[in-house]
Amino acid sequence: CGIVGVTGNENAVAMLMEGLRRLEYRGYDSAGIYVNDQNGHDFLVKEKGRVADLANALTPEVQGTTGIAHTRWATHGQPSIENAHPQISADDRFYLVHNGVIENYLELKNKYLADVEFKSETDTEVVVQLIDYFVLHDNLTTLEAFRKVLYLVGDSAYGFLLMDREQPNTLFVAKNKSPLLVGVGNGFNVVCSDAIAMLNYTHDFIEMQDGEIMILTPDKVDIEDEEGHHITRLPFHVNMDASEADKGTYPHYMLKEIDDQPAVMRKLVQTYFNDAGEIDLDSDLLADLKAADRLYIIAAGTSYHAGLVGERLFERLAKIPTEAHVASEFAYNTPILSAKPFFIFLSQSGETADSREVLTNIGEAGYHSLTITNVQNSTLSREATYTMLLEAGPEIAVASTKAYTAQIAVEAIVAKALGEANGTDAASQFELANQLGLVANGIQALVDQKEVFEKIAQDNFVDQHDAFYIGRGIDYAVSLEASLKLKEITYIHSEGVAAGELKHGPIALIEAGTPVIGLITQSKTASLTRSNLAETAARGSHIMTIVSKSLANVHDDIILEDVDETLAPLLTIIPAQLISYYTSLLKGLDVDKPRNLAKSVTVQ
Ligand code: G6P
Repeated sequence: CGIVGVTGNENAVAMLMEGLRRLEYRGYDSAGIYVNDQNGHDFLVKEKGRVADLANALTPEVQGTTGIAHTRWATHGQPSIENAHPQISADDRFYLVHNGVIENYLELKNKYLADVEFKSETDTEVVVQLIDYFVLHDNLTTLEAFRKVLYLVGDSAYGFLLMDREQPNTLFVAKNKSPLLVGVGNGFNVVCSDAIAMLNYTHDFIEMQDGEIMILTPDKVDIEDEEGHHITRLPFHVNMDASEADKGTYPHYMLKEIDDQPAVMRKLVQTYFNDAGEIDLDSDLLADLKAADRLYIIAAGTSYHAGLVGERLFERLAKIPTEAHVASEFAYNTPILSAKPFFIFLSQSGETADSREVLTNIGEAGYHSLTITNVQNSTLSREATYTMLLEAGPEIAVASTKAYTAQIAVEAIVAKALGEANGTDAASQFELANQLGLVANGIQALVDQKEVFEKIAQDNFVDQHDAFYIGRGIDYAVSLEASLKLKEITYIHSEGVAAGELKHGPIALIEAGTPVIGLITQSKTASLTRSNLAETAARGSHIMTIVSKSLANVHDDIILEDVDETLAPLLTIIPAQLISYYTSLLKGLDVDKPRNLAKSVTVQ
């Protein structure tokens, strides 16, 4: 979910609505806003659907100087006006927006609120009713009641913004595990899930730590720790323009972000290589990597798929055993670790709750870690021992594209640096900066032929129910990501299959015309994958190939420029991204905001 709050600005409604639009990637099944004008008028408007639906529901009289707003990704209770936030106390005094999950909400409800009539099925309503309960029954101040409830919800995940009608220019803010930043303005203050939301109003933000409470009024930000002691913390400056998060003349963020990829590759070369063409890596990080006997890459979704490519990069270039793991699995089913593990977290947002759970656990065990993320000052970046940035610019489309390729490129950079430190020939002979230049050109050549991919989408995908991407080795790793792209935004059931495994089950699903796309970039397995494709063709599939130039023949469909085989994923994925984009577009779907998904998932 995305949350935003403003205190002390005449344009609170406009600011909150802009904030919601910019945070919509975090959830978009319902949205709501509460504002108070400090003159005895206040307004609560909630709507099912998108932020635009909420905007349509606002009448001109909805105005205020202080307010809170929310765009939701449902956890407890289906999307509806009742379940949308803000949630309200029974006496209409307290208004609360929440990102996260309160694990013990039923217990708290039964213990304290058995007599209260609830209007929603949300865990959030329990919290706001509880605050009201402690104010009324125990005579606590709002701040005391808030603190007491934070204690009662324990280690649940939350980002809370609370308003009290009786102190209408104050925002009470708290977080645990969910991201929240406070922005400092001139005569106003704001709070938001992501700085992007408020960059048109301020560039100065104060980090918030788990367990703290912040009390915002128009001229002041009070920070208190868990025991109520005051804390002083200076703001940091975010060097980014709100316009960097705009899509300009592009019809969709996803298309813009696909097109950004050549520039991102070049930016990474500029960022991580010095003038002598050597990699500039933090020396402590390098020492920690060198001391490790095994690398564990932890990630979710697309980032996990980038981790699977990373396994090959680290093993090949640095000769170090490397395992990529799905964060939500690793957290609760941790394998037996090597003697000297080092952890690498891949996360575009730097906020994914599943990954953070692992980071917390391994940090407590005393292990060191590197977070590779696109978001400076994100939670995973702050809490890991080291951070490297993806330098990809904001990624807004829910389906990740440029973060995936940037993650692979950064993994290659780290792997080469480690390999050189370990004295491997594979690393010293690998001309990575030069190769990334070739990759940039190769991506450009692909994105310049969009009509080719639009036609493939129209002819071969739009009417299909199932599709398969197949490959071996590193091509298999990419087939998983290619398939995820397709299912996320076109709702076509698709699978990425290790080409050799097809005959052990998945081939039973092949019907006349089912698209099977072979990824062929590795010389040692090219002919095997071709045979596996032929086996599906013999059963009626429609086969297509995405092939590196040096392995291609006249029958191949999409030819990729030749780059080092370990970097081939940076090119192989591009046709799959574009085919998914056009298929989604041609099906009339919402490319950037596919159903049921959210970009930044801050619940486990
Ligand atoms: C969500 C998004 C995916 C993303 C995954 C991991 O599920 O929809 O696109 O890959 O989270 O996100 P992260 O920010 O950790 O890379």
